[in-house]
Amino acid sequence: MKRSSKVSLSLLLSATFSFAGALALAQYASASPGWYTTAQAANGAKAYQNACASCHGAKLQGAMGPALVGKQFWVTYGGKKVSTLWSAVHTEMPMMAPGSVSARNSTNIMAFLLQQNGVPAGSTPLDDTADLSKVLPAK
Ligand code: HEC
Repeated sequence: MKRSSKVSLSLLLSATFSFAGALALAQYASASPGWYTTAQAANGAKAYQNACASCHGAKLQGAMGPALVGKQFWVTYGGKKVSTLWSAVHTEMPMMAPGSVSARNSTNIMAFLLQQNGVPAGSTPLDDTADLSKVLPAK
């Protein structure tokens, strides 16, 4: 009798601890600073190749249009609101047909640009309304 209650107590304790561990992990995951989902960035890569790569380069390195990766990107958009990037990506581009890329594809392209510039992905999708007032990290 005594022995079995000891066993069940230790079982109960270890179950409690692993539950606490799982909770701590879940909290960490939801607090992780992700800006977009990797699915958005993958779709954005395709939309970018279709609508933007001819002028900005297949690797965003710049050609007829400026580079959209690295120093050039951070000088222009670091510490600025997402809306600044959104205006360039969605409202002013592509150069010959501004505004011709759908909001959904433009959002995906923004996710792709953030990914290529080292901004972390997460579990919440980038949103073309709610996220416009968020300030991008400065680098
Ligand atoms: C026909 C060529 C052309 C195409 C296609 C094009 N761009 Fe551009 N883009 C330019 C040029 C030239 C500039 C620089 C002049 C300007 O800002 O208007 C520029 C500027 C930009 C800037 C501002 C960069 C900075 O550092 O100031 C962004 C962001 C941008 N383009 C994104 C895009 C995206 C996203 C697409 C696709 C949806 C795209 N462009 C398609 C030629 C193009």
